[in-house]
Amino acid sequence: MSANVFLARQDLAACEPNLAKIERSARLAHAIVDDLMALARGEPAHAEPVPLVDLLLLAREVLPEPGAEFVDAVAPPALHVRAHPGLAARLLHALYDNAIRASAPRRPRVVTKAERVLEPGAARVAIVVADDGPGVAPEIAETLFEPLVTRTAGGTGLGLALARRIVDAHGGSIALVPTAEGGATFRIELPAGEAPSVSRT
Ligand SMILES: Nc1ncnc2c1ncn2[C@@H]1O[C@H](COP(=O)(O)OP(=O)(O)OP(=O)(O)O)[C@@H](O)[C@H]1O
Ligand SMILES: [Mg+2]
Repeated sequence: MSANVFLARQDLAACEPNLAKIERSARLAHAIVDDLMALARGEPAHAEPVPLVDLLLLAREVLPEPGAEFVDAVAPPALHVRAHPGLAARLLHALYDNAIRASAPRRPRVVTKAERVLEPGAARVAIVVADDGPGVAPEIAETLFEPLVTRTAGGTGLGLALARRIVDAHGGSIALVPTAEGGATFRIELPAGEAPSVSRT
């Protein structure tokens, strides 16, 4: 929003598009605060079927510089989760934000794989997010999801604590996956959602 106010001031005659962006950002910020307050009050997340590809795009709308090279493997492409769209996007955003900040000034490659969990009777989707940055410092690997655990300059250590609250509110799970190669890999499980059926009447 501040960036758009700055741009609007440069050229008052041409500021209309920037004002529209500020309005949209303010609405988004308002919705995020409302959702987080509800989460803090312990209210269950209002879940609905959401296409996973939509969540990935929503999660990447605002990311720090220099961004990342994203590679997605969503199978099948129409895979849905049953989630609160704003909160689930926030959860993925926390992972992408961390991958970019941990890799700075390098631009990381971030691979997101999603598929149904292949266990009999499991109605869950597994989302694995892997980056090629420096990896999580071993001394915080055990406490990563607790509030205020941080090794990042300017970080508050709330991103992953919030991510865990969000998966808990959905009855899902999140974990750091040990890997032989470098980088950090996180695995999330969320309830699967069916695509809404199209009425033929
Ligand atoms: N992809 C990653 N690669 C390397 N380290 C990571 C990664 N993700 C998390 N970490 C480490 O875990 C710490 C905690 O992450 P978390 O998102 O909870 O807090 P933060 O990023 O420090 O602050 P905030 O998210 O509140 O701005 C980070 O400071 C970082 O040291
Ligand atoms: Mg973070």
